[in-house]
Amino acid sequence: MAYEDLRDWLKRLERDGELKRVTEQVSPILEMAEVADRAAKSGRGTLKAGGPALLFENIEGYPGARVLMNQFGSERRMRLALEVESLDDIAGRIEDLLHPKQPMGMLDKLKMLPKLAEIGGYFPKTVAAKDAPCKEVILRGDDVDVLKFPILQTWPGDGGRFITLPCVVTRDGKTGKRNVGMYRMQVFDGKTTGMHWQRQKNAAEHLRDALRAGATDGRERVEWMAETAGGTAPGIALTKMQGRRMEVAVAIGTDPATTFSAIVPAPPEVEEYLIAGFLRQRAVELVKCETVDLEVPAAAEIVLEGYVDLGELRSEGPFGDHTGFYTMPDEYPLFHITCITHRKDPIYAATIVGKPPMEDAWMGKAVERIFLPLMKLTLPEIVDVNLPAEGVFHNLMIVSIKKSYAGQARKVMNGIWAMGQAMFTKCIVVVDEDCDVQDLGEVVLRATNNIDPERDIQFTLGPVDSLDHASRMPNYGSKMGIDATRKWAAEGFTRPWPEMLTMPADVKARVDTLWKRLGIS
Ligand SMILES: Cc1cc2nc3c(=O)[nH]c(=O)nc-3n(C[C@H](O)[C@H](O)[C@H](O)COP(=O)(O)O)c2cc1C
Repeated sequence: MAYEDLRDWLKRLERDGELKRVTEQVSPILEMAEVADRAAKSGRGTLKAGGPALLFENIEGYPGARVLMNQFGSERRMRLALEVESLDDIAGRIEDLLHPKQPMGMLDKLKMLPKLAEIGGYFPKTVAAKDAPCKEVILRGDDVDVLKFPILQTWPGDGGRFITLPCVVTRDGKTGKRNVGMYRMQVFDGKTTGMHWQRQKNAAEHLRDALRAGATDGRERVEWMAETAGGTAPGIALTKMQGRRMEVAVAIGTDPATTFSAIVPAPPEVEEYLIAGFLRQRAVELVKCETVDLEVPAAAEIVLEGYVDLGELRSEGPFGDHTGFYTMPDEYPLFHITCITHRKDPIYAATIVGKPPMEDAWMGKAVERIFLPLMKLTLPEIVDVNLPAEGVFHNLMIVSIKKSYAGQARKVMNGIWAMGQAMFTKCIVVVDEDCDVQDLGEVVLRATNNIDPERDIQFTLGPVDSLDHASRMPNYGSKMGIDATRKWAAEGFTRPWPEMLTMPADVKARVDTLWKRLGIS
């Protein structure tokens, strides 16, 4: 059964021995982050990797407050969160949807009906405000103060406190579709925060659309098209937009599938609320906001309602990021909070990002598994994909392919660079299908043995992740693909290619029978 809300999920975590209550007093300034960092890294390299989820119950300066951290911080918890035995089970469900079996007769067709009805049941439902726990307390006007929650500072050089696990809801002005994205929010004061949606993300596009709609002359059009809605913007176009608004709502502390759906790099046509419904196999219940025309999960712990002013940007950062480095300050939109609604005794949900492995590494692994069948739709030769945590998702993707024609590894690289947020991948390593991409030792062996670097490394230029500190320019730089597949004569390789070493099966079987008696291990 799907988790109702964060509290239901907490109960499950506790019942399964996955939750540690922290009753010693700790400060939200750095100390909680240090505890969570150690928990995230505990048991590294073992089956217990990831440490427990943490419920902080004694927070300096916030009597009675509770904060949940590391809720997704292990492979097992990620599976529990999405209620599956294996993360590949979700990929299996997606494959069923993408490749439904052709019904052979009337009976088969009838059997498909419940499946269709099931999918219909994943669309979000809207409930009345009186049935929405997130409306137990409603704060407006002078009562709005986001600093009443124990918001963390996670690294010493950070620009301040940041909301690190928010589900940010915006609406596409053209289609009316809602987007839910996880974008950190630096708290500037009780009523304003930063809104760190990077320029290639869906909410940034919503903002650009709003700017387009408000543009009055061609000159403005060119300038805001070039560089706005996240990142340095030319002031001239923006000043004309001042006073125009785009509505935004933020939910903090939802059921785990809904929080997770905010990081899923879904295309703009697919609402994350539907993805959450699909993952939990039950519709997400939404409720209308008080002051903006948006809906949020009705059982959320905390909801912030407000707007970004189309003409306003402010420097955000630095922030200790998931690359293991600080991201430098940059200009981002400002979120003005007009109303806060929350449950009684709300539980604030947070995460810390930093040097991997951290909690987000497991969330990223789940995305990797879920997206595999979708990648295969465009690139059917893909066998498996690995985004190692230390590659911080945008720096390194290892992909195995079933190679059938000359140059196919390069075709796959180009396909990946053209695919949604995979465009950011700085380094792609392509290996043959017989290489297990999850075995990094095997990958290094192939990637170094099988290449003539000058011939097999391909460079390209394009958009890079905003967090990349080494690219020649912010957001724009080079990427590299390594073709570590076996080279063919059709690719101009005329020397014989050696076989890889394997022992004949009969020899192995004989040694298997001897092995115990040999007493070697
Ligand atoms: C903990 C965490 C924090 C994140 N912070 C940001 C952020 O500040 N800005 C951003 O653009 N993406 C951030 N991301 C990645 C986005 O959530 C991700 O790219 C997501 O797909 C964006 O949603 P969208 O595709 O609807 O734009 C973060 C992801 C995680 C797991």
